[in-house]
Amino acid sequence: MATQTSALDRVLVLEMVRVTEAAALAASRLIGRGDEKAADAAAVEAMRAALNTLDIDGTVVIGEGERDEAPMLFIGERVGTGQGSGPAIDIALDPLEGTTITAKAGPNALAVLAIAEQGGLLNAPDVYMDKLAIGPGYAKGTVSLDRSASENVRALAAAKGVEPGEIIACVLDRPRHEKLIAELRALGCGIMLIPDGDVAGVIATTDPETTVDIYLGSGGAPEGVLAAAALRCVGGQFQGRLLFRNDDERGRARKWGIEDLDRIYELEELAKGDVIFAATGVTDGSLLDGVKRLRGGTITTESIVMRASSGTVRRVRGRHSRLPEGAA
Ligand code: FBP
Repeated sequence: MATQTSALDRVLVLEMVRVTEAAALAASRLIGRGDEKAADAAAVEAMRAALNTLDIDGTVVIGEGERDEAPMLFIGERVGTGQGSGPAIDIALDPLEGTTITAKAGPNALAVLAIAEQGGLLNAPDVYMDKLAIGPGYAKGTVSLDRSASENVRALAAAKGVEPGEIIACVLDRPRHEKLIAELRALGCGIMLIPDGDVAGVIATTDPETTVDIYLGSGGAPEGVLAAAALRCVGGQFQGRLLFRNDDERGRARKWGIEDLDRIYELEELAKGDVIFAATGVTDGSLLDGVKRLRGGTITTESIVMRASSGTVRRVRGRHSRLPEGAA
C-alpha cells in the first residue's frame, strides 16, 4: 500500500513506463549504427517530450549534466505540466544508459528513470562512485565498502554457505579494475566482466537467475543513485562512495552541498522515502528484452516498474503499432 503522505500517485507508476518506453523506442532506431551521440540525443529528446506530458511539478536532479553542458534534461530543469500545481517530484534519469552498448548493439542498454518526493534522491555530481551491492536476504552489514574485496567476498560466501571461489562477482571491464579483478581471481571467484551498463550490473545481484552474487567497482555516481533507487524497491544492499580525480570534481560536489567527500552512502541516503523506478530495455539484457522491430511494423518493448512503498514489481510488455510522439 502507498503511504498516505506520498506525493507519488499510483497512476504515476504506469506513466513512468510510458516515459522510459518513449526513450527506448527512440534510441532503438540507432542500435548498432555506431553513433553513440545520435542514439543518446534521440533518447533524451523523446524522454523529455514524454515527461512534459505528465501533470507533475518535476525537477531533474540527476540528468544529462549541468545546464551549460546539456541543453535538455539538465540538472535543475523543470519538467511536467503541473508546475506549481502538481505533485513536487524529484527525477533521476538516464534516457540511454549504455550509449556505447547501443552503438555496438551490445547487451543491457536501458532507458532508466527514478522518481521520489522532493529531496528523496542524492544530488550526485557527475563523478565516479565506488559501488558495492549484494542481493536481498543477507543480514545488514554483511559487506561494507570499509572492507577489502576479499573480506567482502569471504563474508558473503560464509553468509551464503558456499566457498569464496563459488561467488560470482560482476565488475565493469576497465583498466582501473585490474587490481580488483586480480584479487577476485586469487579467491577463485567467477567474474562477469561487463563492457558498460552498471545499473543493470548492480540490479543483477537481486535476480538469482543471473547467478551474480555481488557487484564491485567504480562507475558513474548518477548511475549509482539510479541503481540504489531500484534496490530500494526490489531489496538488496548497496553502498556508494564518491571518488574524486581532481579539484574541479571536488568543487562540483561542494556545489551540490556535499561536505564530507569520503562519506559512504547507504541505500536509504541515496534514495529515500517512496521511490518509483522504471526501465525499458533498449538492447537485450539480463534485466529486460530489448526493443524488437517486427515484420509488418509492430514494435515490442519490455519494461520493469517498481515502487519502494509497496514493494510491487511489474513487468510490462508493450506492442506498439503507432509510436509515441518523439519516438518515431
Ligand atoms: P553511458 O551510458 O554514458 O555510455 O555510460 C555507461 C556506463 O558504463 C555506466 O553504466 C557506468 O556507470 C559508466 O559508464 C562507467 O564509466 P566509464 O566508462 O568512464 O568507466
